[in-house]
Amino acid sequence: MFLGPSNTADKVQDAFLITVIACVILLVLVTGVMVFFLMRYSRKRHPVPEEVHESVALEIAWTVIPTVLVLAMFYLGWADFAYLRNPPPNAMTIEVTARQWSWTFQYDNGKKSEDLRVPVGEPVKLVLSSEDVIHGFYIPAYRIKEDTVPGLKTYLWFVANEEGTYDIFCSEYCGTGHSRMLTRLVSMSRADFEQWYGETGADGSALLVAKGCTGCHSLDGTRKVGPSLKGVFGRKVAVLTNGAERTIIADEDYLKRSILHPEADVVKGYPPLMPVIPVTPEELGAILDYLRALR
Ligand code: CUA
Repeated sequence: MFLGPSNTADKVQDAFLITVIACVILLVLVTGVMVFFLMRYSRKRHPVPEEVHESVALEIAWTVIPTVLVLAMFYLGWADFAYLRNPPPNAMTIEVTARQWSWTFQYDNGKKSEDLRVPVGEPVKLVLSSEDVIHGFYIPAYRIKEDTVPGLKTYLWFVANEEGTYDIFCSEYCGTGHSRMLTRLVSMSRADFEQWYGETGADGSALLVAKGCTGCHSLDGTRKVGPSLKGVFGRKVAVLTNGAERTIIADEDYLKRSILHPEADVVKGYPPLMPVIPVTPEELGAILDYLRALR
């Protein structure tokens, strides 16, 4: 009936629409009869009330009809719920990791990305987990939402009906950066997806995404939970070292120290929140190369 951007949106929207239509019809009927009776049997037109006797037929009708209606709505919800909880076995699996405050998507070939990319027309199963607290993975346009829980795998599945870009939100309050825990779902044609899927290489920018850095540090100058990394190399920075303020130049040593020992020098005006994120020496080199060039 409803033709939305995904199979899940169709299912949810159909059940929702049918329920709303049934409720609107009932509302109009009940209100109409009520208003009619108010006028028809008002004291002015009908000064002496009549005795009312029970009517078996009427009582059966007003018991059976609502029961059937409610069971029909229950069946709609139940059938769609079963459908939405049973991913087809051939679904492509993507691991979704949530953390304060970013999302990472990992594909079967090891590729990682910051936005979720899927081919149109194919079942996709998302296996969700969290590295810290409970987050809520929510794609409003697809009408699907599932909590990510530390120590537990949860899942969702869908088929994208058409190409497009849709918002992904965190729907569970998870701390300071909650409102900025956003990313995108990009549904692409099979060919575009294959091409993107095949591109590999651990460059610094991909590492910043994969390690979750971009959750707090923007690459375009926007202020997030932490300072932006745009043009950071060679910048004069006011930092707090053991509580004492000093100004330093963000050179290679400083950036290395900030990654390996984030608590050592905290940029003034930002909370000392950054966790230690494990990086290999090669990864550190690639990140520094990238930052050096990020103007
Ligand atoms: Cu993660 Cu809110």
